[in-house]
Amino acid sequence: MKQEKLRKLLNDMSLEEKIGQLVQLSGEFYKANDISLGPQQKLGITQKIVDLSGSVLNVTGAKATKEVQDHQMSVQPHHIPMLFMADIIYGYKTVFPIPLGLGATWDPELVRKGFNIAADEGSAAGNHVSFAPMVDVVHDARWGRVLESPGEDPYLNSVFAKSMVEGFQDKLKDGAGQVACVKHFAGYGGVEAGREYNTVDMSISNLYQNYLPPYKAAVDAGSKMVMSSLTSLNGVPTTGDKWLLDDVLRKAWGFNGLIISDYASIYELIKHGFAKDETDAAHKALNATVDIDMKSPCYAKRLQELVTDGKLDETKIDEATWRVLLLKNELGLFEDPYRSVSEEREAKSILSDSKRKVARELADKALVLLQNKNGILPLKKDEKIALIGPYANEKLLLGMWAVHGDPNTSVTIAEGIKEIAGDNLKTAKGTDLIRDAHLLKEIGYFTDEEIDKMISSEKVEQKNNDEAVKIAQTADTIVLTLGESTLEAGEAGAKTKLTLPENQLHLIDRLSKLGKKIVLITISGRPLVLTNVVDKVDAIIEAWFPGTEGGHAIADILYGKVNPSGRLTMTFPYAVGQEPIYYNHLSTGRPQVGSQHVGRFVSKYLDAPVTPLYPFGYGLSYGSSEYKDLKLSSHKLTRNSSIKVKLTVKNTGGYDRREIVQLYIHDQVASIVQPVKRLIDFKAVKVPRGQTKEVEFEIKASELTFYDNLGRDYLENGDFDVFVGKSSADCLKETFELSE
Ligand code: GLC
Repeated sequence: MKQEKLRKLLNDMSLEEKIGQLVQLSGEFYKANDISLGPQQKLGITQKIVDLSGSVLNVTGAKATKEVQDHQMSVQPHHIPMLFMADIIYGYKTVFPIPLGLGATWDPELVRKGFNIAADEGSAAGNHVSFAPMVDVVHDARWGRVLESPGEDPYLNSVFAKSMVEGFQDKLKDGAGQVACVKHFAGYGGVEAGREYNTVDMSISNLYQNYLPPYKAAVDAGSKMVMSSLTSLNGVPTTGDKWLLDDVLRKAWGFNGLIISDYASIYELIKHGFAKDETDAAHKALNATVDIDMKSPCYAKRLQELVTDGKLDETKIDEATWRVLLLKNELGLFEDPYRSVSEEREAKSILSDSKRKVARELADKALVLLQNKNGILPLKKDEKIALIGPYANEKLLLGMWAVHGDPNTSVTIAEGIKEIAGDNLKTAKGTDLIRDAHLLKEIGYFTDEEIDKMISSEKVEQKNNDEAVKIAQTADTIVLTLGESTLEAGEAGAKTKLTLPENQLHLIDRLSKLGKKIVLITISGRPLVLTNVVDKVDAIIEAWFPGTEGGHAIADILYGKVNPSGRLTMTFPYAVGQEPIYYNHLSTGRPQVGSQHVGRFVSKYLDAPVTPLYPFGYGLSYGSSEYKDLKLSSHKLTRNSSIKVKLTVKNTGGYDRREIVQLYIHDQVASIVQPVKRLIDFKAVKVPRGQTKEVEFEIKASELTFYDNLGRDYLENGDFDVFVGKSSADCLKETFELSE
């Protein structure tokens, strides 16, 4: 509708109606399917406010959303349509690899296509807003939510933030898009000790340089919503932080969309010790310009009294309500509350072959080959394969945040391999995924009876072990599928141990004594510590939670139908004690290499190396390649010039390759010390076997800025290193000088 008509609607609405638009509840309040995973506390709000509420969380499906929409509009005095919002983080029904795997594709264009698909399915299911992309920079694999992020690098996360937002919103105009809601603003990935919901505290220069850029990239790409974080940042809970949400996000960045709190985070301002009670919490969140209160009672119960008691100007509520009405109007909901959603369109859209094809391509590119001793991969079709492990025939390959996905539609690893190996394949479970009753209890979703059933008796475990050994003895190659369970990673999935569990290690030990080739496929939502298995297996593939087409993609890589090109976007530690560990760290005054000190008096551990097991940007492909002839067009850069960086990439092996050529810089001297390396560009280059490609980058002064502790960006003259390579630890090097 026209804005003046919308403005008239706002003016005609009662205060209670306006407040209702700022309240978001989940399905159980509307007798609809409710799959919200968060804490199920009772909110103590009136049915009146439920009837007036303006948006709903995680109710999806053409039928369900129509029923809720019809009911809510019928009981609303002005029949205002609801906004339907859901966690469609990496796919709705066609589920892609987890974002830590999507990041490993280094293919933002393909990821954008994937998010087009997520939006097509989600919108066909009646959903309007996806609570994604999550672009938190992550440094600590102990934190379960690293699963949801593209990784540890601010530049790469920014590239994916843009492609994911555009992927969601590209087709909004024709009803096949979804509103993106970038999260969690800001800095949730910096939780201390990787402990879930823990404190986040960092310098302003670190915040601006390493944590804010991906959110800004999402806002610059047009993300229409932003979600605040559950955490405090430098002592202020972000959901009540007027500086962060109003001064930075709205005023400095020009964001004029909707801010939604994270689940119950307005109420949690009380638990943080930032608000005295629900009224104080509501006041502080609205003052910080949070528009929608997700699943907390504060706005619903307390805003009205704040206005009637004269403590809150009603115009503040008008501003928030106006932003909600604007988004509904932009989506055309007043003209068509269902956005032409139909069960027929839903059925046609979901899990179509073309969508599965993209999911498979994304999974093909997400898998990372970490080790391939003696080139035992790719497998040959006639090799006898013993596929062993709890993931061999497991459908649960979707990861914790695929809350709308149906595991029954996913392709298992056994199904994927069988399509190629046929009768050359034998499978055995070998061991349980988890045999730790305490861990299963802590995961919090299983009854004691269920836990008892999930853990085989010692006798059955021994039998599973023996069966695995038996089929392994008659095989040429063992393919081991081990890792963590779906609910060990993701939200509320923080862990202090990142090694494989004892029972899985025991199975590896037994099988490694058979003298057979062993390929380990790890299924995980985070970097694991694989240090204690690298010498027991020949090849290792990190498959993440690979999604609906996971089994096909794993087989594609195992048999060389696709040459693996995935490259890690998060560091794999040598030991969990190294966490947080990331490539773009500072030098310190006593770096282990190049320090004026010797022996123990350098920045190191006594009981472990400072280097990771696998660094950022690392991954193998079949065959080999050589990077050489790195040349700069000039060794002098000014603010108005640029430098061309060239090198040649030669395919020296027998396979066509997709090279991820990475460009890093290092500012040697600056008034705020700079990271030893910083990714500023990359190119995915296809290099057919036997061929050589010239690769070119351009460096401009604007890419060299850094931030001080007042959040001001700087550019300082001086010498810079340029690194170009296959990973952050394998680069050619040159230098140049920046001057006026
Ligand atoms: C959760 C998560 C957030 C999610 C929201 C709704 O607590 O922190 O990422 O979108 O609640 O489910």
